[in-house]
Amino acid sequence: MTLAPVPSPEPQGATTSLTQILYCSVSRDGASSVLQMSDILNEARLGNARDGVTGVLTAVQGRFVQIIEGPEAALERLMAKLLRDPRHTALSVLERRRTARRFFGDWDMVSPRLAPRELSLLALLLEDAASGLDAYAAILTRAVAEQDAMLEGRRSQGDVIGRARPTPGMSGWSEA
Ligand SMILES: Cc1cc2nc3c(=O)[nH]c(=O)nc-3n(C[C@H](O)[C@H](O)[C@H](O)COP(=O)(O)O)c2cc1C
Repeated sequence: MTLAPVPSPEPQGATTSLTQILYCSVSRDGASSVLQMSDILNEARLGNARDGVTGVLTAVQGRFVQIIEGPEAALERLMAKLLRDPRHTALSVLERRRTARRFFGDWDMVSPRLAPRELSLLALLLEDAASGLDAYAAILTRAVAEQDAMLEGRRSQGDVIGRARPTPGMSGWSEA
């Protein structure tokens, strides 16, 4: 199961350099296949757990949308890797800012299952160059919270996530 929350230790004194970046890019694979997404998420979670980076990644109409947050130096290194990664192209930073708190502090990299309405809202945001990080985060944090609540419900009903019969969408990924 890929959705277990993880602790997000904030290195002491790092608060002042905490940065958030929102970017979108075009998947080379066009449809951004579930298998490719799963590979990317596995890499992201490993690297981010090591580097104190957290965030959210989703795909909308063949485009990746990602918010990454963490110490500025770690994000610089990650952005350099992302710019070289052949799995996507046309990476465009939509907003970059200093922040005092993380939106996705419990997640090395979460990819919530999105309802059709949420996917449509994200697609609208992508069409409007004035849309900022807060607008994307409002949709994505709610989707993560809803998914978390649903998984908690399943756990409390004794459904052991990961051993249960695979359920469509439980990989935490969907695309418009
Ligand atoms: C859309 C997309 C998002 C990614 N997000 C992350 C991420 O959040 N953290 C990360 O470490 N790698 C991420 N990666 C993978 C990196 O580009 C890179 O392949 C990975 O960090 C391994 O790099 P290394 O072998 O140089 O350590 C992402 C790749 C893509 C295509």
